[in-house]
Amino acid sequence: MHELKAAEALGFTFDGRALTARTGDTVAAALLANGVQACRQTPVSGAARGPYCMMGVCFECLVVIDGVGNRQGCLVPLRDGMRIETQTGRRHPDGAKS
Ligand code: FES
Repeated sequence: MHELKAAEALGFTFDGRALTARTGDTVAAALLANGVQACRQTPVSGAARGPYCMMGVCFECLVVIDGVGNRQGCLVPLRDGMRIETQTGRRHPDGAKS
């Protein structure tokens, strides 16, 4: 994997694992760039799912960001220090975690 210059790197965690990505990446892009292919589990079968369309259509990229669930990772710009977690269970209209 390539090394990021300190000035362009953002630090974040995914399920407690410390990762880095580039300034300007979305959450979904940052996860994929770090080899994370699954970021949620379906409520029906529990199957692992991950970002697919990268443009806000498929909802396969749902994650919990800083304790707020149902966030579409492909539409959210990564910020330094974000705490991103796998989303499990069904979506909640109020954005609750699970
Ligand atoms: S990857 Fe399809 S909505 Fe985010």
